[in-house]
Amino acid sequence: MASLRTSYILVLWLSFALTFLLHGCLSVEIDREGLPWTGLNTTDWETGVLPPLDQMWELNDFQIAAKNFLAARWYASYRTAALDQVTYQANMNIWQKIRLNGYTFRDVSDVNLNTTILGYNFSLPFFIAPAAYAGHTNESAELSLAIAAGKLGALYAPSIESTKTLEEIAAVGLPNQTMFHQEYVWSNRTLLIEQLKRIEHAGYKAIFLTVDNTGVNGIRVQAIRETQELDSDTGHSASFTLEALAEIRNLTTLPIVPKGIKTAADAKTCLDLGFPAIYVSNHGGRVLDGVPTSVEILLDIRKQYPEVFENMEVYADGGVRSANHVIALLALGARAVGLGRSPIWANIYGEEGVEKMLTLLQAELQTSLQLMGEANVQNVVGNLSYINTKQVEAEYFGIN
Ligand SMILES: Cc1cc2nc3c(=O)[nH]c(=O)nc-3n(C[C@H](O)[C@H](O)[C@H](O)COP(=O)(O)O)c2cc1C
Repeated sequence: MASLRTSYILVLWLSFALTFLLHGCLSVEIDREGLPWTGLNTTDWETGVLPPLDQMWELNDFQIAAKNFLAARWYASYRTAALDQVTYQANMNIWQKIRLNGYTFRDVSDVNLNTTILGYNFSLPFFIAPAAYAGHTNESAELSLAIAAGKLGALYAPSIESTKTLEEIAAVGLPNQTMFHQEYVWSNRTLLIEQLKRIEHAGYKAIFLTVDNTGVNGIRVQAIRETQELDSDTGHSASFTLEALAEIRNLTTLPIVPKGIKTAADAKTCLDLGFPAIYVSNHGGRVLDGVPTSVEILLDIRKQYPEVFENMEVYADGGVRSANHVIALLALGARAVGLGRSPIWANIYGEEGVEKMLTLLQAELQTSLQLMGEANVQNVVGNLSYINTKQVEAEYFGIN
């Protein structure tokens, strides 16, 4: 009888130990890569398994979930940035140096997030930026991004290097949905002309022309480690001069917005050439490592060529992970703010995830604006009374 009890206790202990061991092996502690900590508990997650969507409460959560779910190779290919990732880290950290000014004694009972981008109406001042090959996160690839953007009334601009064709993406848009499309400056001019025609024909309303990877991409070491491949031949033109930029407008009837403007001088050039808008961006730190953040570039344009903001629309992106980041860029003069990696991470859940990500950001924006005493998001655009950027300015421009 006693030996029976002993073996029973032994079996019980063994099964406890086994469960503990197995759980220990499968459950994960994920390296958060310095992302802000807001209590997301990953100890019950299993590597390679999609975490519950209802645990996602802010944009960074989606990155952690994607890191848990995606194969290391694909996570690295989306997450990577160029060389030492100085610019990527700067994009993520610049927000710590900006303070928001919140005013009381105002009527904020009805907060309005509506805006226009190139004259088209949108319900949100942030948009889904072009990001190549969404298909490694979810089979629906760019289709879920287009559908979620349509449901929320947000702009989506697919990459010319998408998993789905640009016609397939256009086809899932709502009847009244406006989408723009991204294009690269290919050295193959026939390809460029043919793609511009297809973009026009499919009903996209403007082109984000990416001008920042002149012949090469940045050397994205983090991704190279996974793939063992140097991304050498991009097919992008390495002789894209000022004349070529001016001339490219003859190739399409759609408005062209140069994307990847990262100096005040280039912003002024685009203004002088009569472009309707520019898109300030360092490509999420994936191209030239060491360049400034959009916050710094916008401050520099304000300082050197303030007329840019009066005469053309300005969009910006890079490291935007919360509504307060959106507000900072809007206050610096951006009319709309792009999201690159966040929609990719959210897309591991397909359309439902992207919709949730956008809805969370919408709620954050509504809340922050209300708490800041501003009922209309359009009043934030170019309104420096809402932010304090002195710390950034002191570091970037030096103290005179
Ligand atoms: C995986 C990935 C692919 C991208 N592909 C493109 C692209 O095809 N064309 C382009 O103009 N920008 C591309 N970008 C840059 C984004 O449009 C955007 O500028 C950048 O991701 C914004 O920074 P964020 O990721 O911190 O939000 C890509 C970015 C990522 C992360």
